[in-house]
Amino acid sequence: MLSIENVTKTYRGRACSLPVLTRVNQEVRRGELCALTGASGSRKTTLMNLIGLLDQPDEGTIRLDGTDTAALRDDATAALRNRLFGFVFQAFHLLPRLSARDNVALPLLYRGMGKVERRALAATALERVGLAARAGHHPEEMSGGQRQRVAVARAIVGNPPLLLADEPTGNLDSQAADDIMALFLTLNGEHGVTVVIVTHDPTIAARCPRRIVMRAGRVRDDNRGALRDAVCLL
Ligand SMILES: Nc1ncnc2c1ncn2[C@@H]1O[C@H](COP(=O)(O)OP(=O)(O)OP(=O)(O)O)[C@@H](O)[C@H]1O
Ligand SMILES: [Mg+2]
Repeated sequence: MLSIENVTKTYRGRACSLPVLTRVNQEVRRGELCALTGASGSRKTTLMNLIGLLDQPDEGTIRLDGTDTAALRDDATAALRNRLFGFVFQAFHLLPRLSARDNVALPLLYRGMGKVERRALAATALERVGLAARAGHHPEEMSGGQRQRVAVARAIVGNPPLLLADEPTGNLDSQAADDIMALFLTLNGEHGVTVVIVTHDPTIAARCPRRIVMRAGRVRDDNRGALRDAVCLL
């Protein structure tokens, strides 16, 4: 599904340059549920941005479904990003002027889908996150946990095979965090969605069969999903 080969990245400022990723090699297989952990500043977000085609490496190759992403033109990159990924961020990133339904439908607009179909798919996605009754509400009328569920609905509305979540529970209390994690577990377990979650929360990481630990721009540890069976038995 996703392969990262020898990826290196340096942020270049006017006065100095900062090497941020050093020869990262990683593979995520279809259907995995993967936690990406590590101290603050260990470059987790940098790596997620590269995987999600929001940024490019200086060296190395990122392949998605076998496609070398460096070879793609901008429009092809945007189309691939829209088709393959759902994104969930710590700060929700909902548009305040839009209802939950319209926020959720937004990725479909970029696909050129008609309004009736967009609304129908948005309603289905909101139902999957338990917010069907809130479709007409605006983000400011919702709790943090509900906003994040809207963001999850937006991420899954186009049925992407891969969900990338960067500290999705970072702004939530433990109950709301639990609800979001339960959604990820269902999406992964019942719908086969591959999920990568950046998290500082050990209880979230503990529920992911695969755990990758980063330190200072390198992968320090990777259980390669060895605990999958053990976790499934819990
Ligand atoms: N656009 C940028 N230009 C220059 N430096 C950057 C840029 N983005 C991030 N950095 C630096 O890269 C380093 C890694 O940042 P990154 O956000 O990837 O870490 P992180 O593991 O996600 O941290 P956190 O857990 O706090 O979110 C930091 O030192 C940061 O200051
Ligand atoms: Mg980060």
